Amino acid sequence: IELFKGAYEGAVTATSYAEILLAKAIKEYGPDRPVKYPDTAYRLPVITSLSGEEVNKIGDLAPILNRIRTTNIKEELTFENAKLNGEATLYAAEVIEALRYVREEKPDKYPYTGFLTDPILRKFGVPLVDFTIPGVAVILGKGKDSKSVAKMVKDLQSKGIMLMLANEVIEQLIEEDAKVGVDFITFPLGNFTQVIHAVNFAFRAGLAFGGIPAGQREKALDYQARRVRAFVIQLGPNDIVKTAAEFGAIFMGFPVVTDQPLTEEIPDWYQYEPDYEKIPKLGLELRGIKLKIVDIPVPITIGPAFEGETIRKKDAHVEFGGGRSTSFELVRMVDAEELEDGKIEVIGPEIDEMPEGSIYPLGMMVDIFGRKMQEDFEGVLERRVHYNINYGEGLWHVAQRDMCWVRISKGAKAAGFKIRDFGEILIAKYKSDYPAIVDRVQVTLITDQAVIEEKIKIARERYKARDLRLKGLTDESVDVFYSCLLCQSFAPNHVCIVSPERVGLCGAVSWLDAKASNEITPTGPNQPIPKGECLDEVKGMWASMNEFVYNGSNRTIEEVNLYTLMDRPMTSCGCFEAIMAILPLCNGVMITTREHSGDTPCGMTFSTLAGTCGGGTQTPGFMGIGRRYLISSKFIPADGGLGRVVWMPKELKEHLGQELVEAAVAAGLGEDFVSKIADETVGITEEEILPFLEEKQHPALTMDPLM
Ligand code: SF4
Ligand code: NI
Ligand code: NI
Repeated sequence: IELFKGAYEGAVTATSYAEILLAKAIKEYGPDRPVKYPDTAYRLPVITSLSGEEVNKIGDLAPILNRIRTTNIKEELTFENAKLNGEATLYAAEVIEALRYVREEKPDKYPYTGFLTDPILRKFGVPLVDFTIPGVAVILGKGKDSKSVAKMVKDLQSKGIMLMLANEVIEQLIEEDAKVGVDFITFPLGNFTQVIHAVNFAFRAGLAFGGIPAGQREKALDYQARRVRAFVIQLGPNDIVKTAAEFGAIFMGFPVVTDQPLTEEIPDWYQYEPDYEKIPKLGLELRGIKLKIVDIPVPITIGPAFEGETIRKKDAHVEFGGGRSTSFELVRMVDAEELEDGKIEVIGPEIDEMPEGSIYPLGMMVDIFGRKMQEDFEGVLERRVHYNINYGEGLWHVAQRDMCWVRISKGAKAAGFKIRDFGEILIAKYKSDYPAIVDRVQVTLITDQAVIEEKIKIARERYKARDLRLKGLTDESVDVFYSCLLCQSFAPNHVCIVSPERVGLCGAVSWLDAKASNEITPTGPNQPIPKGECLDEVKGMWASMNEFVYNGSNRTIEEVNLYTLMDRPMTSCGCFEAIMAILPLCNGVMITTREHSGDTPCGMTFSTLAGTCGGGTQTPGFMGIGRRYLISSKFIPADGGLGRVVWMPKELKEHLGQELVEAAVAAGLGEDFVSKIADETVGITEEEILPFLEEKQHPALTMDPLM
């Protein structure tokens, strides 16, 4: 088979090229020059994952390249050898790319992303391995024309597929104004060898979420096969090095589809499909990706790729709320006779009556009837409004309740989007996402000022009642906590215990969410755990939780405390919003967030910290948490509570805002406590922040020693 020949010759060329570049680099910088990718705890992830060699300096790379060349490059043309040649090519590409980072700090220029950092991995890797994102398409080469490529990409985006791009397709897409960029889960990696960043992203998913130790080649490959549903689309004329790299993909279990005729196909692995409208379907089939398709009768594309899209004021046809006009959204539970299933009513002007650049009020009332619906689920379902609207291409939504802020782009208006289409999206989504609790849905959209003033009163009353109920929801006031095992798909020993006052560490699963999810799928990842006998009130240990965690963690974690960081704390998987770590010198704890990429006083960035405490293990002194856990009255009470916090990034202070101040007051720390917490503007080492803490008389300094 000609492809095998290409894989062999390509692997020889790629490894030779890597050797030449390496020799040059060693000559220029010396063998001790450090080599690493930016913002990752996994060094050179292909090598870390497959063979586990520790690469720190460029001199470390020579024996590795040598080894892979001797063990893997085989002339005999078989499928097995082609895959080994592919593996060698992955090593070569990793070396070539890493060397680019030796020469320059950030070698990739706009629009290319180059290496995808750990924060990006944590943001998009989790939905990838838990199949929220159903798959990944790696597109390389140059398409027959820009229009067809753009159309194919849009098709994949509307299916929710993550895209990794390399070569000329990127320019072709930009030319067509296609949605390209991190915000669209469509990564323009760069030119040719940069495609390795798709590969090292995939391998890191196994290391970070699968808890697979470095160098466990078979396990790493098995994880790729099971959890990373990727395939490759090769467009335009191929060459031997690309062919070899494609066999690297096949080695990982990712099939290839090409638009170029082949003298011989490899069934299931390397197939020809000239029709761009059929390529996505074939790729999905070969990789065994099944899509849950919800047909929503609106003129715009709906998909997670459009969730992160921002619509600037100048690009908006009309905007609603955000303090400029009255707005609200409300999900309410109603009785069967109070609604008409599928009905959408628009009260007030439709979009055609709204001039470009105008501001209107908007009320979105979603009435839901369901035999298993509970009032407690209203808030859970209402938060989905944000996601569901944002999934629309050309729609933008921020904040919630009577603060919500919505824009419709000029593009969406031109495509024919109507106000009533908000209703179409919401009805379709609620029915498909929550079939067990949602039987009937009706949506009322209000753009009339007089009517909205009337209806917003109903909404505000409902919010108030809900908040009161939430306030009363304390760990003491309920009989059951919930487990969450959702992350076990990639962190097999990880168990979250979610209580009313401790949100899951991903920040996305509250006690009410877990309760609703249990109602929707009784055998699902959220199980009620009756509290029963309490073994330690202060640290928060219950016999029933211990038992559940022991069984749920495949008998690796015997005991767990809910309210402390220091003694048998909860495990961390991979998707924590924030991480806490102790600062011995300051006698306190610090917190850093996924959004903060800078250094912290514990000497580690978020990425490095995540690497030390993730993967479902108990690491006293370190713990992944949801951001909102900080403002809970059950925030590490056994360790001194909020008063222990001596450092956090400014970003987190701003994010929690007034709520953090209120939590401090409630904890008896006073209104000015937040100003006593150091941040990166004060310092990023313990030595730097200590004088500040002393000057502010931070309470942690006079607390009992942490250790
Ligand atoms: Fe994962 Fe815990 Fe969030 Fe559940 S609550 S999704 S287990 S992090
Ligand atoms: Ni959007
Ligand atoms: Ni998780």
